[in-house]
Amino acid sequence: MERFGAEVVPVRTGSRTLKDAINEALRDWASSFEHTHYLIGSALGPSPYPDMAREFQSVVGREVREQASARGLEVKALIACVGGGSNAIGFFAPFLDEAAPRLVGVEAGGRGFSPGDHAARMGGRGKPGIVHGYKSLFLLDEDGQVQPTHSISAGLDYPGIGPQLAHLGTTGRIEFTTASDEEALDAVKFFARQEGLIFALESAHAGAAARRLAREYGRDEALIVNMSGRGDKDIFILAPRLDRDNWCDFLSREAKGLR
Ligand SMILES: Cc1ncc(COP(=O)(O)O)c(C=O)c1O
Repeated sequence: MERFGAEVVPVRTGSRTLKDAINEALRDWASSFEHTHYLIGSALGPSPYPDMAREFQSVVGREVREQASARGLEVKALIACVGGGSNAIGFFAPFLDEAAPRLVGVEAGGRGFSPGDHAARMGGRGKPGIVHGYKSLFLLDEDGQVQPTHSISAGLDYPGIGPQLAHLGTTGRIEFTTASDEEALDAVKFFARQEGLIFALESAHAGAAARRLAREYGRDEALIVNMSGRGDKDIFILAPRLDRDNWCDFLSREAKGLR
């Protein structure tokens, strides 16, 4: 980002997650709006940002529709991971007004469902609230304070969910499920071996749910998973989980070479 000329301001407050980055960005914007503009890459924040993210991301859903129809696929379900919700709402957007296919959002089940161990806001865990300038469902404690979250993936540990996804989850058009840290890790390994692709840890949550859902369908029925990113960016999380000793040796050899 700096090579492209950006000034990068790291956020060192709170849990140093997306929530804290948005806090800081909104704080900065509140005092500099005359000469700056607030932008976020997820389907959250004050109107019109959730709508903008959906429209821009909906190219994914439109391409899926065209390509599925060109291949004559009988698409039964679309499956996407849900952090703030941009990849899911864009992927689902062209299908929202139709009864089929099944639309499945996958949240971070983390390491269990105690507060601070996950980021699953749907399924009755999130409560209505107003945070970061928008009304939706959030993980809140009994005093209305935002709860801590956890996910193995950096992009799914956000305590709120895009307002349109929350609404469509409540009406039932979108189903929500979770995948745990371990299921996501297993999915990364599975798709690497079967497909030669390294899923981003976020997208691997959708992959994990697809592996479960596939048992409900026949071989000629298609499930489409949105691979929202590649796992190259996750090497510092994946490598120590997959082969700690060799990774540590590799890093120390590289560091020695730099001195
Ligand atoms: C690869 C990838 N997928 C998914 C997400 C989750 O964001 P969203 O739910 O807005 O698509 C992120 C967030 O950083 C991400 O990096």
